Amino acid sequence: MQKNQLSEYFQSNTGRLIHKWHHYFEVYEKHFSRFVGKEIVILEIGVYQGGSLQMWKNYFGDKCKIYGIDIEPRSKQFEEEQIEIFIGSQSDRKFLRDVVSKIPQIDIIIDDGGHTMKQQIVSYEELFKHIKPDGVYLCEDCHTSYWPEYGGGYKRKGSFIEYSKQWIDQINAFHSRTPELPVNDFTRSVKSVHYYDSIVVLEKSPIEKPITSMTGNRSYEDYVSPIKTGFFAKLERWFKRKVNKISYKYKSSIYFED
Ligand SMILES: C[S@@+](CC[C@H](N)C(=O)[O-])C[C@H]1O[C@@H](n2cnc3c(N)ncnc32)[C@H](O)[C@@H]1O
Repeated sequence: MQKNQLSEYFQSNTGRLIHKWHHYFEVYEKHFSRFVGKEIVILEIGVYQGGSLQMWKNYFGDKCKIYGIDIEPRSKQFEEEQIEIFIGSQSDRKFLRDVVSKIPQIDIIIDDGGHTMKQQIVSYEELFKHIKPDGVYLCEDCHTSYWPEYGGGYKRKGSFIEYSKQWIDQINAFHSRTPELPVNDFTRSVKSVHYYDSIVVLEKSPIEKPITSMTGNRSYEDYVSPIKTGFFAKLERWFKRKVNKISYKYKSSIYFED
């Protein structure tokens, strides 16, 4: 287990029970450390015996507010200062909408609930939009996407991992040349999607249409991309090269990009 503040807390924990895979601590540190000491809002689905909520409280400090969701009514007893718990199911859209209507915008969501495909997908669909523009969504135990008893299976339609693969296209949508892949809210609000063993992390950030440019000096003047093939492409390339060459000679700003 990588040694960091959270893993050390976990290993020396003699308080309430915490249940985490050892390699998760490195991922937490990577995506959560920038929030330490800040006035933030955290929502963890899956309270269990309350230990992880206390771990977050210890890690993020006395300015954070932590909310828990669990289907088990007895987990309500783990409420304390900075920690509030809602009882209900993460696959119940109405319940989730009610929860978010009662809490502020969220900085970090950790889905460590029941880990079925429906639970993970419904929670993402209902909660992701309530994360602040620079927040983080972390879904853990995604190995259940490969376990039939949770609704998973390798490349099985409807598994959380299969569902998440659309994000790879959406994050690249500014470069799409088909109306089937338009720029959408996801494209405009997600900076990166991270895949780890059993964990998927979404890092939010407002995204503008990307810009490209060149800097430095040209070493040869007649470069044109060789990607296109065929007679007309050759003709086009010949024409562009000629223009680029003349342009270079007379220091004109006309230049065909590759
Ligand atoms: C893996 S444990 C959570 C572990 C805890 N986060 C920790 O690190 O110690 C999973 C929890 O999810 C809860 N759970 C299961 N199905 C649920 C559902 N549909 N909605 C909300 N919570 C659920 C269980 O009651 C259990 O407490």
